[in-house]
Amino acid sequence: HNHIDHATPELVNRAIAAGDIHTHVPDYEELAAYRAGGGYETLAALRAGAKSPEEVKEEVLSSGLRGLGGAGFPSGKKWDFVRNAEGPRYLAVNGDEGEPGTFKDRFHLEREPHLFLEGMLIAAWSIAAARCYIYMRDEYPAVLEILRREIAALEAAGLAAPGYVELRRGAGAYICGEESAMIESIEGKRGMPRHRPPYVAQVGLFGRPTLVHNVETLHWVARVCREGPEVLSRVEKNGRRGLRSYSVSGRVKAPGVKLLPAGSTIHDVIEASGGMLEGHRFAAYQPGGPSAGILPASLGDMPLDFDILQEHGSFIGSAAIVVLSDKDSMKAAALNMLRFFEDESCGQCTPCRVGCEKAVKLMQADRWDRDLLEDLCAVMEDASICGLGQAAPNAIRLTMKHFPDEV
Ligand code: NAI
Ligand code: SF4
Repeated sequence: HNHIDHATPELVNRAIAAGDIHTHVPDYEELAAYRAGGGYETLAALRAGAKSPEEVKEEVLSSGLRGLGGAGFPSGKKWDFVRNAEGPRYLAVNGDEGEPGTFKDRFHLEREPHLFLEGMLIAAWSIAAARCYIYMRDEYPAVLEILRREIAALEAAGLAAPGYVELRRGAGAYICGEESAMIESIEGKRGMPRHRPPYVAQVGLFGRPTLVHNVETLHWVARVCREGPEVLSRVEKNGRRGLRSYSVSGRVKAPGVKLLPAGSTIHDVIEASGGMLEGHRFAAYQPGGPSAGILPASLGDMPLDFDILQEHGSFIGSAAIVVLSDKDSMKAAALNMLRFFEDESCGQCTPCRVGCEKAVKLMQADRWDRDLLEDLCAVMEDASICGLGQAAPNAIRLTMKHFPDEV
């Protein structure tokens, strides 16, 4: 794995061709087992006219399902935007799970890939998609292998026409997880975000209306259509409904993906992760990867759900929870985040390209120049084209606000 994580795709390809890399594929639910449990019956019924796309959309909306790539946009609403636009239309799946600390899509795909594939085909049916593209990050070799096998199995079983589902490999650029950069990349161009509007729902892949969904969102589409909207809507905690797959890492005893009510607080998440490591006291947490910055333990009683953390200048995003302790330096963590953004900025716009570089320099000082950093944050947030440059200041601002003694 280390080799794969640090090598270029070209080197990996050469190594695979030479037989030097053997992908370990974990046990997962194959097509026959999935079908034995009723899998693809929902899709078949829908294709046979059991319900209209409108009815299915209503079910998805009433389940409360929101986009689980991180933005939380109501999933059913997107279907309307795309369906109302003239065809041909495409469906593009964002599997470029690049937010550091996020590994929930991988978790689901390495266990139950057909829930995702059936959800994808249901969404494709609902918008009458001409074709589906799955953009999958190359750092997940087992997932790629599983999808290759299972898409072929779907074709052989007549559940997908040959070539209807196309698997594309990302090449390791974080920015290609931004939906319009992903679309550029699928089109064979350099992955650089486009200006919005127009949204990809109107002008997406090859200039056509495109439905873009995250992997886990489609996993839940299949479950909602099969088990009913209640599978999500009946779960209630702290006034919030639904479930979240929290990717938990950091100073906890049992890191991993924890499927918990969306109303869970960081204390619930730590408890579900076996508690803090011996000798570590809970001090801070990243609620949604580097894009969401760092929050102190004192802000630990809020449900970790969409929109809740906004008033604190943060967000839950893809629910990448990194638990930090009294042994960690928040200043070092924030610098690490900005180094990541500096490295991953596509360079298209100056506020982000130059801003990240300048921020890293300023953050390396013993004492941070707070006024200058705040000025820089304002420019980056206001004038960057995409979410990378707009969210990078979160780590700087929240560290200055909550850990002033460190910086
Ligand atoms: P966004 O809120 O701009 O858009 C969300 C989705 O809704 C997009 O598909 C967009 O096309 C659609 N949309 C929004 N308004 C629309 C309108 N008026 N008409 C039609 N469609 C509309 O958010 P964005 O920038 O796409 O995503 C930001 C999130 O991504 C953050 O929460 C961040 O945490 C997360 N993220 C996740 C990563 C991961 O690895 N899962 C990596 C990096 C960021
Ligand atoms: Fe590229 Fe950064 Fe501009 Fe986004 S904000 S388009 S990543 S330079």
